[in-house]
Amino acid sequence: METSQNLSFLLLSLSLIFLFLNLSETAIACHPNDKRALLEIKAHLGGENASPFSNWNPKTDCCRWNNVGCDHQGAGRVNFLVINNADDVVGQLPPFVGDLPYLISLRFLYLPNLIGPIPTTIAKLTNLQVLEFGSNNMDGPIPDIFENLKNLESVSLYSNKFSGSIPSSLSLLPKLKQLDLFGNKLSGPIPESFGSFKTGVSLQLFDNQLHGPIPKSLGKANITEINVSKNRLTGDASFLFGKDKPLTSITLKNNKFKFDFSNVDLPLGLRDLDIAHNMIYGSLPKQIGHLPLQFLDVSYNQLCGKIPTGPQLKRFKPSYFAHNKCLCGAPLPPCK
Ligand SMILES: *[C@@H]1O[C@H](CO)[C@@H](O)[C@H](O)[C@H]1NC(C)=O
Ligand SMILES: *[C@@H]1O[C@H](CO)[C@@H](O)[C@H](O)[C@H]1NC(C)=O
Repeated sequence: METSQNLSFLLLSLSLIFLFLNLSETAIACHPNDKRALLEIKAHLGGENASPFSNWNPKTDCCRWNNVGCDHQGAGRVNFLVINNADDVVGQLPPFVGDLPYLISLRFLYLPNLIGPIPTTIAKLTNLQVLEFGSNNMDGPIPDIFENLKNLESVSLYSNKFSGSIPSSLSLLPKLKQLDLFGNKLSGPIPESFGSFKTGVSLQLFDNQLHGPIPKSLGKANITEINVSKNRLTGDASFLFGKDKPLTSITLKNNKFKFDFSNVDLPLGLRDLDIAHNMIYGSLPKQIGHLPLQFLDVSYNQLCGKIPTGPQLKRFKPSYFAHNKCLCGAPLPPCK
């Protein structure tokens, strides 16, 4: 009698403990819609065999899965998804990434076997602040899906095989600070609409196949850094410069720019200036010696005349001035 009472007490306590565990599990568990989307992503990218998903067990709370982060308000909505550095992630990003409507940060990087295009369903992620697909093997055009993604501050789609032209809707992002499209096969011109950047954008477009002149509109944009090296850009780029521009870094290296450098007004805060390997002519602007320059390369152009003097210029080796038409004076040999 006594034993059976003890036993039923034990059973009752055990079931209470289990009930409690279950309740607390439900209270923090991720939203079922988010879990469903994540499980679809896992299934399309290698499933059980892919290490980043190793503890993505359908029976557990997805807010505790590796590489997933949920909000702190307890609604169990997925805010962060960062899949990084794994060669066992294999396949194409499925459209289900668009079914995580509370995502703030979506990042897939250093995944050599992640292939295929960017799903257009990303257009639904209106809370997104950071979008990064970097150093994968993705391809196809960059879809023109940015119009409604008004919270994006950083768009990083570097070192993949993206092709086609740069979508002009990127310029509609009112909070954009960082645009990394380098290391792809993007072609066509830089969009005219990029002139409407107002937020101090760092534009990293190097290592693509962009061609034609830089649109004049960019002279009016609020850009803090621009690197367009290793493209096929032509013509004038002097309008990018200007004494009061917030630019700290300008890299035009390895293009076919052709303009007179003599009278450009260099931005007063300029730290990096690389115009090497173009067809830029005229002389070096006088004020170049009085900027806070940390890097300067004007080699392989058609420049001429005496290199201006100034405290900063002494730091740069002759090779950074070499292979011009007739530049002379320190650190090159004296003018004749
Ligand atoms: C450019 O953007 C920066 C950073 O957002 C801002 O502080 C600055 O006022 C802007 N400049 C202009 C001229 O709009
Ligand atoms: C610009 O891009 C080139 C690659 O073409 C890179 O080597 C260089 O470091 C970049 N410069 C700056 C200042 O970002």
